[in-house]
Amino acid sequence: MTRGLATYLGEERLRAWNEAIADRYSVRSYRKRPVRAEALHRIEGLLAGFSPLCERARGYLVVQDASRIFTGYVGPLGKVTNAPAAVAFAGDFHLPRYMEAIGYLGEGIILEATSLGLATCWMTGSFSKDRVLARVNLPPGWKVIAVTPLGYEAKGTTLGDKALRALLKSDTRKPLSEIVTGLPRPRWPKGLKEAIEAARWAPSAGNAQPWRFRVDRDGVTLSVDTGDVGFDSVKRLSCGIAMLHFEVACSASGIQGSWRFPRPGIPIIAKYRYA
Ligand SMILES: Cc1cc2nc3c(=O)[nH]c(=O)nc-3n(C[C@H](O)[C@H](O)[C@H](O)COP(=O)(O)O)c2cc1C
Repeated sequence: MTRGLATYLGEERLRAWNEAIADRYSVRSYRKRPVRAEALHRIEGLLAGFSPLCERARGYLVVQDASRIFTGYVGPLGKVTNAPAAVAFAGDFHLPRYMEAIGYLGEGIILEATSLGLATCWMTGSFSKDRVLARVNLPPGWKVIAVTPLGYEAKGTTLGDKALRALLKSDTRKPLSEIVTGLPRPRWPKGLKEAIEAARWAPSAGNAQPWRFRVDRDGVTLSVDTGDVGFDSVKRLSCGIAMLHFEVACSASGIQGSWRFPRPGIPIIAKYRYA
């Protein structure tokens, strides 16, 4: 059981994150302008986590030569250019749910960055782990899973950016009818539709949207769609992102509750039990 996010973040920051959910999108081309020191300071404050759900994960800020972390594949597709800073996300891979923790913590950092006017992009590919490891000091048994560039979006989208967004259908999401089961909509508590919408618009690797929701009288169960749900599955990371979006939007709608975790090894990620 966990306490509500407002306990750790305060109402004002939660409101800013809730707005950032709608404003956020992935940006791969940046201006060379450095990130404001004050914004970096705010991000730094979140790197060690902002609630017990972040415990198995951590962010590492990279400012020196951050752009050199990013590598390209298929020509310009997916390549991050000119990022003045980055955050690398790492987790303790000996523990179950470290991937969910990385998603949850990392998305908090990404929503904070968005609320500060910064652009971001979750990346599990197209970066050099060796170059990250040369810049950060990881505890033994931890590994770097993902990075995000941080900076200001370049004016004018490149053809590569447009092609990638079209390929991944990044501007769309699966309909609610495909990802939600359980109680019919008229029996949902007030604000739940908005919370599920917030989770639905979460970013995911390859825009695969591997989350499924079952709405019951006492709460909402989040599961992985199918297939690979090992502890190392990137689907778990994407579900951690959706958990944060859901919880932030629940707080904004006045739905009180907390996450409960099942025993490891089944496709259920967590259940949000109403208080
Ligand atoms: C865990 C994760 C890994 C991702 N990895 C990459 C990546 O390696 N390269 C890339 O260009 N985009 C990557 N993305 C960005 C997704 O393609 C993007 O979030 C998705 O298409 C939805 O678009 P949006 O973020 O603009 O809403 C990743 C996103 C997530 C959440």
